[in-house]
Amino acid sequence: MSSVEALAQVISNGVKDIQAQCTARGFSYPTPDVVCSPETDAIQNEFSSQAAPIIAAAYQLIATLSHPQPYLLGMGLWGYFPASLAYIDATFVPDILREAGDKGLHVNDIAAATKVHPGRLGRILRLLATRHVFEEVAPDVFRNTRLSSGMCLGKSVKEILENPLGRWDGSSGVAAIVSLNGHENMKTAASLTETLLDPVTGFSEEPTEAAFQRGHRTRLPCYEWLEEPENIITLSKFPNAMRGTTHYNSDKVVNEGFEWAKLPEGSLVVDVAGGIGNLTMVLASTHKHLRYVVQDRPAVIKAAHEHWAQKMPGYVEKGIVRLEPHDMFDPQYIRDASIFLLRYTTHNWSNKYATKFLTRLREAAQPETKLIIIDGISDYLCRDTSSIDNIPGAAKAAAPEPLLAYPDSTIGWGYLMDMNMLGMMNCQERTVGEFMTLLKASGWKIERICRFEAPLPQQIICTLL
Ligand SMILES: C[S@@+](CC[C@H](N)C(=O)[O-])C[C@H]1O[C@@H](n2cnc3c(N)ncnc32)[C@H](O)[C@@H]1O
Repeated sequence: MSSVEALAQVISNGVKDIQAQCTARGFSYPTPDVVCSPETDAIQNEFSSQAAPIIAAAYQLIATLSHPQPYLLGMGLWGYFPASLAYIDATFVPDILREAGDKGLHVNDIAAATKVHPGRLGRILRLLATRHVFEEVAPDVFRNTRLSSGMCLGKSVKEILENPLGRWDGSSGVAAIVSLNGHENMKTAASLTETLLDPVTGFSEEPTEAAFQRGHRTRLPCYEWLEEPENIITLSKFPNAMRGTTHYNSDKVVNEGFEWAKLPEGSLVVDVAGGIGNLTMVLASTHKHLRYVVQDRPAVIKAAHEHWAQKMPGYVEKGIVRLEPHDMFDPQYIRDASIFLLRYTTHNWSNKYATKFLTRLREAAQPETKLIIIDGISDYLCRDTSSIDNIPGAAKAAAPEPLLAYPDSTIGWGYLMDMNMLGMMNCQERTVGEFMTLLKASGWKIERICRFEAPLPQQIICTLL
């Protein structure tokens, strides 16, 4: 069978399978016109592992059938998609269209609500509609699709206009992370080539010598730059963006993988560089028998106090959760932690720096303390698992040829996030082998890995070396 036929079969058999299961259980798989809701999101989450090879096959089919030149010419301009999405967030079009309902709204009216140029807004909406984010239902009249509704903030347009800076607070965080990637991170991406070709910065492990500094014309590392007064919008966006990465499947993250429920009553979980405590919030509301500390930079902890007071009043006051400023490169003062938790933090630092803070945690660990790194893992694209076969949970089942080995990884955003990390701080997503080397240098070893389907982050459970 030719590979085109094999790919087409993966698509057709896979779709039939999903449809049959939905029919048998008396519901429909959400179609593109069905806007996001907890019920329809739950259906898609449930079928995500079955959908992954179908989506991967569709991408591969496009790559197979496309003439290389138009494919590459188009790919060279893909950057305008994230740029357009950032603009859509800045003009909160998904919420304007949510209020407009099924009939949609003329671009003149959308533009009037947000005081921008209607013709330009229309062109951006049309570009996105080519990829099913928005639908043009009549000339210049647009409505939300399921995809564009994923960026809704869930607030009234009036409320957003009254407090545009706080628009992401309390939202799913999806619009915030899309905006971060489509705006701030695009400036970084545009400077990647010159940074990598430079004989100094191209080899640097320093967070002050990355593409970020060129793109943003600063000498400051990203997290210090964020706190400069002129970057207040980004500072407000960033912690909300961190929530956007797992919002759609947060139940899975706290109920599957590491056995939080089995930790003894009163065990202390320290969320190091925990931001405003997005993950701790989900953990604390589910696993009430544990105590928690969220540590981060002082400005972030200040924002965390406001966030907890608003979203989960009582937890801080009752001492279930402590929010404490702490520089993770300083000696760790908590010596009785059951768990040190690092989510989306290890990937923020090159080995030179990651070794430093992992060593700080090792110095403060008790013999039974576990380190849980929650981060992406870069899978090799070939089918060689020899280096990870000894680690429980590390290997993943490979998809049949002609698909790439791990469909969930290739359709997710892990490899893009790796580039984001390279650009932001000269840091990286890591393969299992790279994690093993890093942890060994810091006095830890991998006990096991709890795999989640990408783009959900993986859990790497570590013990003392
Ligand atoms: C990518 S965010 C992840 C936040 C959080 N773990 C989460 O998953 O939502 C990385 C965090 O590291 C924090 N950070 C950066 N440098 C730090 C330092 N030296 N000490 C403590 N936290 C730091 C940032 O403020 C930011 O909140």
